[in-house]
Amino acid sequence: MTSLRLAVVQFSAQFGEVGANIAALEALLEPVEADIIVLPELCTTGYFFQSRDESARYAEAVDGPSCELFRRTAAAKNAIVVGGFAERAGTEMYNSCALVAPEDGEVRVYRKIHLFYREKFAFDVGDKAWFNVYNAARDVNIGMMVCYDWRFPEAARSLMLAGADLVVCPSNLVTEAWRKVMPARAIENKVYMAVANRAGAETRGDETLVFKGDSAVYGYNGDELALADPHSNVVIYADILPAKTRDKSFNAFNDVRHDRVPAAYAALCRPNEGRA
Ligand code: ACM
Repeated sequence: MTSLRLAVVQFSAQFGEVGANIAALEALLEPVEADIIVLPELCTTGYFFQSRDESARYAEAVDGPSCELFRRTAAAKNAIVVGGFAERAGTEMYNSCALVAPEDGEVRVYRKIHLFYREKFAFDVGDKAWFNVYNAARDVNIGMMVCYDWRFPEAARSLMLAGADLVVCPSNLVTEAWRKVMPARAIENKVYMAVANRAGAETRGDETLVFKGDSAVYGYNGDELALADPHSNVVIYADILPAKTRDKSFNAFNDVRHDRVPAAYAALCRPNEGRA
């Protein structure tokens, strides 16, 4: 069974300083040796966009400098690289996550579906369903979601049902509840979860966001396999066995995929019967 080394990078970008952020990320990545490298949400631009004018100013196509960093890193490290960037696609602007494998250098993009707080003023809602990327060289199926997607169990569940072994979640987390929920997403789907967060603060106008750090990797039983700290730019590592997630049983008689009863879940979505 293939064991893979997963590196999760915690990095605090400076808002709007794309060149400096890319240089700082390259320095942080320099000693990293891993099969999969996960970077935070919007890791090259900073997070706290205020308007569409701002996202239009900083958003890039997939041949821009951010995806070029991901592509360059994937090739140099012989690793799958995942990272968040502000994406321009015609007149649309997305809070996106790119995955690049060294075998083909193709940029595969997930566009964040659940927009958090002021992201609603700066980005469009992702226009594609969740999908996984299977990498044959490493025998791993990776699903992407971005930060606030964690609050919607449908995100990780959709990825699990489509066969994810590992769900990566580039993030800029500013609340606390995710600490309880990310391990739950791992348990209920029997998948690995990798949360690449940032630390530090961003002040835009008269509002400051404080990011929580504590990037983490959770095993498919919800165990914490690696944990960063609340403050640093730092890389954490975990060794994972992706194929172990494919058997969804947890005892002789229960299996979190086969025990599902979708017809009952649909029924619950209908209005209560027998009530006025
Ligand atoms: C978030 O979605 N960046 C909290």
